Amino acid sequence: MTHILCIGAGYVGGPTMAVIAEKCPDITVTVVDINQDKIAAWNSDNLPIFEPGLPAVVERARGRNLFFSTDIPNAIRTADIIFVSVNTPTKTFGAGAGMAADLQYFEKTARQILQYANGPKIVVEKSTLPVRTAVAMERILNANGQQFEVLSNPEFLAEGTAIQDLYQPDRVLIGGKDTESGRAAVEKLASVYLHWVPNERIIRTNVWSSELSKLAANAFLAQKISSINAISAICEKTEANVSEVAHAIGQDRRIGSRFLNASVGFGGSCFKKDILNLVYLCQTYGLHEVAEYWHQVVKLNEYQTKRFVDNILTQLFQTVSGKKIALFGFAFKANTGDTRESAAIYVARQLIEERAELSICDPQALLNAQKDLAGYEHQIEYSKDPYRAAQGAHAIAILTEWPEFQTLDYKKIYESMEKPAFLFDGRNLLDHRLLFELGFNVFPIGRPSLRHY
Ligand code: UDX
Ligand code: ADP
Repeated sequence: MTHILCIGAGYVGGPTMAVIAEKCPDITVTVVDINQDKIAAWNSDNLPIFEPGLPAVVERARGRNLFFSTDIPNAIRTADIIFVSVNTPTKTFGAGAGMAADLQYFEKTARQILQYANGPKIVVEKSTLPVRTAVAMERILNANGQQFEVLSNPEFLAEGTAIQDLYQPDRVLIGGKDTESGRAAVEKLASVYLHWVPNERIIRTNVWSSELSKLAANAFLAQKISSINAISAICEKTEANVSEVAHAIGQDRRIGSRFLNASVGFGGSCFKKDILNLVYLCQTYGLHEVAEYWHQVVKLNEYQTKRFVDNILTQLFQTVSGKKIALFGFAFKANTGDTRESAAIYVARQLIEERAELSICDPQALLNAQKDLAGYEHQIEYSKDPYRAAQGAHAIAILTEWPEFQTLDYKKIYESMEKPAFLFDGRNLLDHRLLFELGFNVFPIGRPSLRHY
């Protein structure tokens, strides 16, 4: 029986291992983490992350061939394949600060594997890493002459649709060395996915192509959003409507219709981090024009969020000091409680700087929001109830596209607010004409504003 171990029980490791265990009853899957609370939550009915469909998958496999544990040494000893899925945040110190990946957790894991492994193993990079990390990993692991094969197997799941993305991936990418043992390791890992993924969807490449493909895929996706957001700024200065433009260009199959929703800015743990990683890589190789090209995708995103906050200030007569503003949504997108790099963090901080009083409403992300905005308690109220959040507010800002915000009674909300009442729709989620008729002054992204003055 094959034993799989995953080190790191986060947004990637947890769902990925749950699906592998569900689809491969003949494989034992153990997930470990240094965070005991997290492991306790994975073993309870209250999973540590909100992901649609995940509880049912865990329920089916947990205790059968899926185990969550904090006993890292023992798990390393018994594993044949070890996935490393620990966090690789952006470095905050030293060379490459603010851009390069901080590999300290990753390297610690490599050393732990070396310490406890009692024989050759396949080690799989699941965390997104700078290109050529696998080589460094291999050097650490094989320092004592042991035989570890290091593979790159990047994760392409998106939060909120993780289970579907894992069940039916567009592709599974496995990078390995072009040696006999390297090819054998690639096929061993492929045999896991072959339990449910057709062979033609499993792409085998060299290690660096695999590592770079992950960064490139995220850079291309983020670039698509920054491109449409750039167009949204032009639309706001003209009579053009960004949704109409997106629809018109998206019909061209070479462009494609997905990922063309103009917004307050993209967030999430991957896009910014991975692009900055790519930028740093380019700089390291002296490719300054290439670095600048990709850097602009991140800068445009920051510009888009700043533009949104500036507009709130301008429309609210240049001051929000002492005014209550309701933020509808704090997660970086719908169907997740994750707030990492959410545009809402920047929006909230800017408004707090301007001395606004905030009321934040989100169905899943309030706990994370409280952590992100620690220290500002006296200026913020948190509520799951949007009606309460909007009561007495001068403005509402829609920051996450939660479908439940579409079906609220906006007449009731309007009546409970200060007048004139403003609504800034950072996701173009609502029916703007209807809101205008109710009395709101409405400011969408990339579409003409609707105002009563
Ligand atoms: C992303 C990639 O999609 C995934 O393949 C990779 O493995 C990890 O990074 P994720 O960060 O979970 O996934 O979310 P994603 O759905 O890509 O959205 C990222 C951000 O872009 C969100 O803030 C979202 O609201 C925003 N977005 C997305 C837009 O603003 N407009 C769009 O049209 C699409
Ligand atoms: P991702 O979105 O990439 O999954 P997360 O931060 O959600 O990132 O998950 C990474 C997990 O890895 C965290 O739960 C963290 O506690 C865990 N982790 C970090 N370092 C180690 C380590 N040395 N051993 C075990 N787990 C670790």
